[in-house]
Formats: sequence, structure tokens, C-alpha cells
Amino acid sequence: MQFRPYDIITAKRDGRAHTRDEIMFFIDGYTRGDIPDYQVSAWLMACFLNGLNEDETYFLTDAMLHSGSILDLKTIHKPKVDKHSTGGVGDKISLALAPAVAACGVAVPMTSGRGLGFSGGTLDKLESIPGFNVNLSEHEFVQVLKEVGYVMSGQTQTLAPADRKLYALRDVTGTVENLSLITASILSKKIAEGADSIVMDVKSGSGAFMKTLDGSRSLSHSLTQTAEKLGKKLTCIISNMGQPLGRAVGNSLEVIESIECLRGGGPDDVVDLVTILGGHMLKHAGVVESVEGGREMIQDKLRSGEALERFIHSVQRQGGAIEVVEDTERFDRAGSEVSVASQENGYVSSINTEDIGTAAIFVGAGRFTKEDAIDPSAGVNIHKKIGDSVETGEALATLHFNNRSGLERAIALIQDAYEIGKQEPAAFQLVHEVIG
Ligand code: URA
Repeated sequence: MQFRPYDIITAKRDGRAHTRDEIMFFIDGYTRGDIPDYQVSAWLMACFLNGLNEDETYFLTDAMLHSGSILDLKTIHKPKVDKHSTGGVGDKISLALAPAVAACGVAVPMTSGRGLGFSGGTLDKLESIPGFNVNLSEHEFVQVLKEVGYVMSGQTQTLAPADRKLYALRDVTGTVENLSLITASILSKKIAEGADSIVMDVKSGSGAFMKTLDGSRSLSHSLTQTAEKLGKKLTCIISNMGQPLGRAVGNSLEVIESIECLRGGGPDDVVDLVTILGGHMLKHAGVVESVEGGREMIQDKLRSGEALERFIHSVQRQGGAIEVVEDTERFDRAGSEVSVASQENGYVSSINTEDIGTAAIFVGAGRFTKEDAIDPSAGVNIHKKIGDSVETGEALATLHFNNRSGLERAIALIQDAYEIGKQEPAAFQLVHEVIG
């Protein structure tokens, strides 16, 4: 062995910077199974507490990227653009966005993740469609992309396998909210999937890993700088995660809301973000000259049913039951529901969105340990959002569940998440700024 894992852990514990070789050794050893989870957990916590500098972030991303293969998409003769979110609550944007962008003639190779901490994951959402296979081989990934125009899958066994392992470990060891670890996680898998360029939805606020605008700006800079070193074009849209996106939080509930959006309806904030991110993707692809023009094109694809058609094709192609897409009443529903009522009159002035995400996990929509199974039908429906007026006793949100064990905690979290004020608050701003 070139190094001892112990020395790498203590180096970071004591705040020393790693060399490229140390990082390569550690990531390689973990990917091969030579370094156990408990040592990597300790190292992750040391990184979380002491940070990684710009060079280390780049070395880590590069090591994770090269932990597996990099897809060659040269046989796809279309611009290839992907979008990724840094993680939010109720963030189902990809589900409507990818088919809409594909319907505009742009290939979208999308490797997605599972729920992470309090945030939901696209793979878990897709798996609430019975039979939907998110575990494609590289060959299948490319085939689906060619046939459907977009593909959504897990990382495959060979794309950035280091991220797949680290992601699952970070989820349960309190080591998610670190900008270097987030940068390396996102970019390693995004670059491995072979897209020409990437649009990042960098979430900011109480339901994001970066709670402040400054933190989100730092993450955006870390992402753009690291992407540039790796030769990829990347734009960051900093969007406001100060309240859940849309009304649904939880896997099948969010798929149902996305299908509404693909049918030309859906909540305004979800549709707005889909068109904004889609506008940027189409501009990256050179399909439109302005983001505004791209937004209109995406909107057309949602209204005309072309985006829905692509979505149905992808569900069919990945083994999912299209009956539930055609008739969302056929999704399994949770057996019980409880509404959480407001204890005051006034206006919703803020929502602690992380608490909403955590409440959804307490009723079964997410995991507390790597081995936990998800209840696809569990989650939260949000009735009141920022700026809405509310009366005492009126429902703020409804919890959907099958298992009552976390119910009391979930109710308390929702109750505490809402702040009710006497004045109507300023309008909620969905997008803060664009970087890169
Ligand atoms: N999304 C990812 O893929 N990785 C992270 O670390 C956070 C969000």
C-alpha cells in the first residue's frame, strides 16, 4: 500500500491539504472495497469540518470521475445538455424538464441520485412508477437516449461508482452540506455521462444544503471553476428553496404533480422553473438565441403534449407501468392522512423547508439508514405557501402515510416549520441569479 487510510484521515482531521496522489489512493481504495465505510465516514466528517481547498476539490472530482468509465456519446448526433439540482424539497423539476427539452431536439443524458439527507431524489421518485428500472447498463443508457431523446437512470455500475458509494454514506453520516463534497459528487457523475454542457439548479435557502445566498454563490463558483478545469461548460441558476417547490413532497405524489405539469397544468412555480432551466439548456444547445425564446419553446412542448409523449415513451422503454401515467388515480395511495392546522390567523411569512422534507422522511418518504426502504406513497401535500392568508384551524399541509411510527414527530415538524405573520410578506422570488 502506498499510503495508510489512517494517515489520510488524520491529515484531514488536523487540517492539512491532501495531495492528488493521496486523494486518488483513498477514492480508488474505497471504490474497490479495500477501505471500509467506517474509515471513509471518519474522513468525510474531517473534510466536512476542515474543508477542501480548490485544488483538493478538483483532485477529488477527477478521482471520482475516473473511478469508472466515461460514456462516449459520439454516436448521438445532437447537442447533449444535462441539468442537475443541488437538492431540494419537492424538487421534481427533472421529470417534466428532460422530456420537454428532448422534445425540442436536444439529447438529455441524465444520471440522477436518490434522496439525500432531507432532500428527495429523482431515482426514488421514478421508482414509484411500478416496474420503472433505474439501473441501466451503459449500453442500455445510450440505447434509451437514442430512442427516446432523454434518459434518466442511476449511475450504472461503471459511471462514477465512487460517487454512488460516497453519496449513500454521506446521506446517513451528516456529511452532505459541504461545497467541495457536493461539487465532486455532482460533477463526477455529470461529466461521466458524456453531456457537452450542464445547467445547474443551485438551490438556496431553508430547504437547500446551502442555506444562504452567499453559500450558494460559493457553491456555484466551486462548480463552475471545477467544471472549467475539467473542460465542461456549466451555468448555475441560483433558485430559491425557501419553500417547497409545488405542493407535493414525497415520491409518487411528486410524480403525479409532474404529470400534471406534462399535461400543461401544474403549480406555477414548478412550471416557471421548468421553463427557465429549459430555456438555459436550449440556449446552451444552440437551439435558441435567448433564454426567453427557449422558455416559450419549452412551454409549447408542455402544452402540446409532446413532452408527455416523450415521458410515456421513457416509462415504457424503462419497464414502467404506463397505466399509472395515463391515469394517475392508479398510483398506490397511502392508507391514512392527517392534516396539520394553523394555530393562528395571518399570512404565511416563512416556511422552514428542511423541516418539511424531514417530516416527509418521518412518514416514510425517505431513509434514515442506507438500508431503509422507502414508502413511495408517503409524503406531504402543502396547502399554504408563502404569502397565502390563513385562518386558525385551516390546514397548512396534509401528511400521507402507512406507518404511524414517525407521525407525531412529522406533525410537530410541520407545525414548527410555518411562521405566520400579521403582514403580507414580500413576493417570493423564485430565481436569485445566474452565474457562469
Ligand atoms: N446532488 C448530488 O448529486 N450530490 C450532492 O452531494 C448533493 C446533491
